[in-house]
Amino acid sequence: MISKKMSDSLNSHMNLELFSANMYLVMSSCANDLGLKGAANWFFVQYREEMIHFMKFYTYLTDQGVVISLPAAKAVPDKYKSLLDMLQKTLAHEQMITSCINNLSEQAVQEKDHATQIFLQWFVTEQIEEENNDRDLIAKLKLVGDNGHGILMIDGEMGQRVFVAPVGSPLAV
Ligand code: FEO
Repeated sequence: MISKKMSDSLNSHMNLELFSANMYLVMSSCANDLGLKGAANWFFVQYREEMIHFMKFYTYLTDQGVVISLPAAKAVPDKYKSLLDMLQKTLAHEQMITSCINNLSEQAVQEKDHATQIFLQWFVTEQIEEENNDRDLIAKLKLVGDNGHGILMIDGEMGQRVFVAPVGSPLAV
């Protein structure tokens, strides 16, 4: 049993996860355009992770008997000055997502909706890792500045990122 208010909030956030996926897919394309194949890989893996997040919300809502709604997708930015610019915008976006997850958790507590509280716990933990990864890369990029060799080393590191679908994932794309 889930309240209409709670399911509306979760549905709204589900759409935000889809927006995140689209945003990172475009960032992957932009990184590729800059000649940064490793960063393109990193953002593509991020896109796939966001699709998992989206599907987690989809599955939870449908398991609760909710019919989801997908309003028209909002256009995502497709102009970035540099890899540092992309990652700074990534961190700002993830901080906004963290804040939304916290608000959802607070709502679930207020409604004494224990199932939704448990469902959201995974996302609370996931957001710590997401923000930490971004901060780490931003710090390294600031250290190397405009040094092309340094940027290429970081690009190589970003190329090592591998997508790992969570156990029992509803989406194996
Ligand atoms: Fe799905 Fe990056 O938060």
